Amino acid sequence: MRTSGTSPDVVVVGAGIVGAAVAWRAVGAGLTVTLLDPRPGDGATHAAAGMLAPVSESWFGESALARLGMAGLAAWPRFAADLRRATGLDTGLREAGTLVAAYDADDVAHLRRWLALHAELGLEPTELTGTSARRREPLLGHRVAGAAWVPGDHVADPRATCAALDVALHAHPGAAVVRHAAVRLERDRGTVVGVHDDAGTLHRAGAVVLAAGWRSAGLADVPVRPVRGQTLRLDAPPGTAPEHVVRGRVQGRPVYVVPRPLGTGSGPGTTPEHREVVIGATSEEGPDDRRPSAGGVFALLRDARALVPALDEAAFVEATLRARPATPDNLPLVGPSATPGLHLATGHHRGGVLLAPLTADAVVAGLTGAALPAALADAAPDRFAPSSKEPETWPRPCPPRTPS
Ligand code: GLY
Repeated sequence: MRTSGTSPDVVVVGAGIVGAAVAWRAVGAGLTVTLLDPRPGDGATHAAAGMLAPVSESWFGESALARLGMAGLAAWPRFAADLRRATGLDTGLREAGTLVAAYDADDVAHLRRWLALHAELGLEPTELTGTSARRREPLLGHRVAGAAWVPGDHVADPRATCAALDVALHAHPGAAVVRHAAVRLERDRGTVVGVHDDAGTLHRAGAVVLAAGWRSAGLADVPVRPVRGQTLRLDAPPGTAPEHVVRGRVQGRPVYVVPRPLGTGSGPGTTPEHREVVIGATSEEGPDDRRPSAGGVFALLRDARALVPALDEAAFVEATLRARPATPDNLPLVGPSATPGLHLATGHHRGGVLLAPLTADAVVAGLTGAALPAALADAAPDRFAPSSKEPETWPRPCPPRTPS
C-alpha cells in the first residue's frame, strides 16, 4: 500500500456534477481537496438533461422535496455566475420557463390534479388553453389536449457544467484530480481518515465526502440504490426544435424534451441555428447496465414526437443510460454523517443537477464547521435539522415514486 504525498483537508469521492461542485466550493473556501474518480462526469451526470424543475417534477407526498428543489434552484444563478467568472465557461443555465403538455383527456385530468397539488404547495403554474400553448410553443403537436406554463422551471447543461468545473479545479492550486476509483474507506477507531483507491494508494485526509452516486452504497452504509435513466440526444435542424423545455404526459407516460444550443462542428452540416435536443427519461429499478433498451428508446421517441412532431426531422445522435442514486424517501443525503470524518453528498435521485450548487454549499458548511444552509432545514427539518443526523432516521419507508 502506498500513501499519497501530503494529506489534503478533504477527499471527495466521485466527480459527477455533485462531487465536482463540492470540490470546487471547498477549494474556494480555502480547503485543499483531492477529487477521486476514474472517469469524471461519466456517471448520472452524463445522461442528465439538466432539468432545474422543482415545480414540474413535484409529486404527491413529496412537499419536502419540492421545497428543497426550490432552494436548489435559487442557488443556481450565483453558482453559474461564479463558475463563469472563474473559467469564462457557460453552464448552459437558461431561465426560460417550461411548458407542461398533456396529450389526451386522461393526461389533462392528471394535469389538473397536479395543478391542484401546486396550489396547495403555493407554486405557480398556470393552465393554458390549446391556442395560448401553441402561441407560446408553435411546434406543439396538434393532438396535444392541454397544457400549463411553469415560468420558474429552467434548465442547465450538465455536461458543460462538469467541463467548467473540471477547468476550474485543474486551475486551482488547492485541488488535485486523481483518476482512480475509490475501493474502501480507511477508518481509525471509528473515524473515517482516508480512502483507498484501485491503484493501491491510500489518500489520507481530514475528511471524506462521499459523492459517488449509487456506488456510494459500496463504500459506506448509506441507503442508496441505482435507478436507471435513459436519455436520447438529437441534432435538430432549424425549425424542428421547440423554443422552450416541453415536458408532459403522453397516455400516462412522462417525457421531456430539452432544447439547447448545439456547438458547430457537432455533425455534418451543423450550423449555429441547430439545437441539441435531449429527450428523457426512463426510470427503471435495477442494477446498473449502461446499455439502453430498445423499448426505452422507442417509448421516449414515440412520446417526444407526440408532443413535438417536428422532431422527426432531427438526426439521432446518442442514447445514454446511467443510474441515478435514489434513497427510500427520494430526499438526498447531504452534510456530516453520524460517522466522524464522513460527509455525504449523494442520494439525489432525479435532482442531482438541480441540487448540486446547494449541496456544495451545505457540504462545505459541514466541512468548515458552519451551520448548514437554512434552506435545507426549512425544506426538510426531519432530515436536515441538526438533531436528525442519526443514520437510522435516513431510510424512511416511502412508496415508490411515479415520475412526473
Ligand atoms: N430530473 C430528470 C430526470 O431524472 O429524469
